[in-house]
Amino acid sequence: MPDKEIVTHSSEETVAIGREIAAKLSPPVLVLLSGDLGSGKTTLTKGIISGLGAAREEDVTSPTFTLVHVFQSPVAARSAQSPDQLPAGSKWSPHPCKVYHVDLYRIENFHDLESLGLEDALSEKAIVIIEWSERFTFRNDWPRVEIHLEHAGGDARRIVISGLNFEK
Ligand SMILES: Nc1ncnc2c1ncn2[C@@H]1O[C@H](COP(=O)(O)OP(=O)(O)O)[C@@H](O)[C@H]1O
Ligand SMILES: [Mg+2]
Repeated sequence: MPDKEIVTHSSEETVAIGREIAAKLSPPVLVLLSGDLGSGKTTLTKGIISGLGAAREEDVTSPTFTLVHVFQSPVAARSAQSPDQLPAGSKWSPHPCKVYHVDLYRIENFHDLESLGLEDALSEKAIVIIEWSERFTFRNDWPRVEIHLEHAGGDARRIVISGLNFEK
């Protein structure tokens, strides 16, 4: 699978890319986000989590201080085979599961990392999105999608995605 490189020019465009990514994710998966402060990791995550139907975009906020946020993608999907079998107003998710949004910016060492209880997240099939993932090495055999974001002048951001198939 070749890496995919995208340049966005607004936060809305980055959110839209997040939604596209969401449509290609199935648990278990680690989504490892790297890139400087303000490069758009949280913005992209808003698109991913809202795209999964697990929260509204405005309810996805940075876990810089809380460190971990947990969402549930729609349970309504469990019984339905397709979107039109759902009660009006509920969203369809192809993969009902927990969605973790983690920020390692303030995590200094492995002791702190352990205190996050990530092992629990990794003990059941989930979608685990990790900001500042470059700060630690993860020894876990789940499939991983790696996304690097960087400033590209003004509101432009270069987003390089590996581990996802954009051909189909
Ligand atoms: N193309 C873009 N993509 C993402 N964010 C952008 C873009 N252009 C401007 N921004 C702004 O940059 C900031 C990105 O912040 P955030 O997503 O919290 O970054 P990070 O989580 O990497 O620190 C937001 O204030 C957002 O509105
Ligand atoms: Mg952030």
